[in-house]
Amino acid sequence: METKVLKPTPEAIREAAAALRFGELVGIPTETVYGLGAHALDEAAVRKIFAAKGRPADNPLIVHVASLEDAEPLCHISDTARALAARFCPGPLTIIMPRKPVVPDVVTANLETVAVRIPAHPVALALLRESGLPVAAPSANTSGKPSPTTAQHVYHDMNGKLPIILDGGESQVGLESTVITLAGDIPTVLRPGGITPEMLLEVLPEVRVADSVLRPLQAGEKALSPGMMYQHYAPGGLLTMVKGKAENVQRVCKDLYRAALADGKTACILAFDEHLSAYEGMDVLSIGCLADPETVSHKLFAVLRELDEAGTDLMFSEVLPAEGLGLAIMNRLSRAAGFRTIDADQED
Ligand code: TXA
Ligand code: MG
Repeated sequence: METKVLKPTPEAIREAAAALRFGELVGIPTETVYGLGAHALDEAAVRKIFAAKGRPADNPLIVHVASLEDAEPLCHISDTARALAARFCPGPLTIIMPRKPVVPDVVTANLETVAVRIPAHPVALALLRESGLPVAAPSANTSGKPSPTTAQHVYHDMNGKLPIILDGGESQVGLESTVITLAGDIPTVLRPGGITPEMLLEVLPEVRVADSVLRPLQAGEKALSPGMMYQHYAPGGLLTMVKGKAENVQRVCKDLYRAALADGKTACILAFDEHLSAYEGMDVLSIGCLADPETVSHKLFAVLRELDEAGTDLMFSEVLPAEGLGLAIMNRLSRAAGFRTIDADQED
């Protein structure tokens, strides 16, 4: 199949909507990351998503709608869900609610709940409105790779597997949506994202963050969200996080970098803009501005993809505090690093 990357003109959006109605996949820009969309109520179309990504069938999908009214046929919407949606939707928030029977099992991986999101990107909203369909869409990457934040990333992973990718520019947030479940007693964040726990507390009296957000699942522990079982966002080489006081982190990163080169390996340091000058003469990539975490979330996946493409053997990354948006950034970075961390303050 030939894959077209189209500027999101009204004509292209009509063509993409027709492809969805016809049971084809479409690459969709959103404010978080690009999605790989299919008509959510068309089982055969949804199966194409799993095939194209190489995604395990036990990992459920998010259903995208243009408004909360459009979600009414799909799930039971509580007052809490309505309050969250009123404050944060459209936006980078996915709400897990009890599902209604119309949603195919293939979408929810047989769970009794369904994940619903109203994306804030004008092209995604225009496509949802034009098609009139609920659209199931995971991130449009090959399973295990960093999520795509440009149409070119989607093309790289999915060329030949879908007819149309709509090019809506770089995804603003750059990390996938916050996933919150309302299925238990206390609203619980299963995956941190652009809507932080601090922000959720503006609407909810209490919010829990799943323990596994910043550590690997323990043996025998059940994942609240199936997606948390899988290795994610990983570049091909070995990424290690280096934490501690800035001067110690820089010293350890430089030592590790030099040792890697001496060992005949290729290496790269991932550093904040504020510290780039400390690594003069070394292969270093900016992961954004420490003082402005939004710049970090915006470019993190593009950097991980670049390193994957380059085939760099060893990568050493600076880290930031897991607070606010930093929680989502550290969640993704930790998974990309397989939780490998060196404490530079202990290396004296
Ligand atoms: O920002 C986003 O959320 C992007 C864009 C395209 O909207 N989508 C996305 O989808 O990241 P995906 O499939 O890559 O991640 C969905 C996550 C997975 O970890 C999945 O396990 C979880 O949400 N999930 C989906 N339905 C669930 C459910 N009913 N219960 C628990 N977790 C669920
Ligand atoms: Mg994904």
